Amino acid sequence: MSDQPILRVLNGERLKKPPCWFMRQAGRYLPEYRKTRSQFKYFKDFLFSTPDIVDVTLQPLRRFDLDAAIIFSDILVVPMILGEDVDVVESKGPQLSKINTPEDIQRLFLKGHFEKCLPIYEAINKVRSQLEKNKSLIGFAGGPWTLASYMIEGQTSKTFAKTKNFGYQWPEAFQNLLNIISDITADHLINQIDAGADLIKIFDSWAGSIPYNRQNEWLVQPHKRLVERVKLSKPHIPIISFNKGLETSYNAYIENVSVQGVAMGSSTNIEWAAKNLSSHVALQGAMDPQLLVVGGKSMICDIEKHLITFKDRPYIFNLGHGIVPETPFENVKIVLDTIDRMCA
Ligand code: CP3
Repeated sequence: MSDQPILRVLNGERLKKPPCWFMRQAGRYLPEYRKTRSQFKYFKDFLFSTPDIVDVTLQPLRRFDLDAAIIFSDILVVPMILGEDVDVVESKGPQLSKINTPEDIQRLFLKGHFEKCLPIYEAINKVRSQLEKNKSLIGFAGGPWTLASYMIEGQTSKTFAKTKNFGYQWPEAFQNLLNIISDITADHLINQIDAGADLIKIFDSWAGSIPYNRQNEWLVQPHKRLVERVKLSKPHIPIISFNKGLETSYNAYIENVSVQGVAMGSSTNIEWAAKNLSSHVALQGAMDPQLLVVGGKSMICDIEKHLITFKDRPYIFNLGHGIVPETPFENVKIVLDTIDRMCA
């Protein structure tokens, strides 16, 4: 049996006290993160600096007794492996070189610049060696749809109009792009596992924008391809999927995609989820990150509600999306203390 609570839960065990970690636990709400960040003009330089990745990944664990570290990196590393130019610009968010037509796909570097990621893999190795044995190290990547949307829109989108237009107009080329992303992502995840990641999470954060009658082609099949490729090489490493906005489709999804956990966004009806989502997967989520900003009674009630709702299921406490920069970091400790108190 593993001594990591998160791995036990992903193996189907229900723990009296659910393990807990937070999406974006390494980030701008922490003063020590902001200090490290200020030393870099370009986010992309920060993303490949081994000592800073190690330091920033461990920052939240120095303050809080979390059950996992998630490697400090970004989903946009995969477009970089494919040869795309990427950066994150203050107040604008991510900016990428754009894929406008099927011909632009030919410009991608299909063998993948994995050598660029050696500093990330080295950081994973160092974090794993510094982390206590009972804490898990999470490796991750974006889902193919979410990454394709960044590569086609060139930035974060509200409508996903360009991505959808591309998919409807050029279905074969779009499928080809999703397949390319799936394969490179799988190899990037395998490299993270080789470096020391204990489990993997796939962030398809914008899955909720996929129309119902394209879910199979644009979400399920690319995930199936990706997960099969990882499992062929690493059959025992658990995978959590986060198809934000498509939580009601998780049962159909896991009939095709062999993941051990599913993460829920804050719009999920958690009572429905606890009752209806397949017992073959562990559940994770789904407190609104804005409650972590507000704190106090409303937050505590919501934590309690999650603990009660999921008490009979293998469950990992987390938010429904990432911690936002305005969060008072003291509230993270209050969440952990509330879980301790409720589950003692
Ligand atoms: O969770 C963690 O602590 C690990 C680090 C992590 C980052 N990005 C660091 C980051 C993780 C898991 C991600 C994933 C990610 N990146 C997702 C999927 C999860 C989600 O939140 O939906 C997405 C969609 C991205 C793309 C991305 N990267 C955006 C939209 C932005 C800018 C928005 C923002 O928050 O500023 C980034 C940049 C980024 N990635 C930052 C961090 C801490 C902020 C950049 C900075 O410090 O200047």
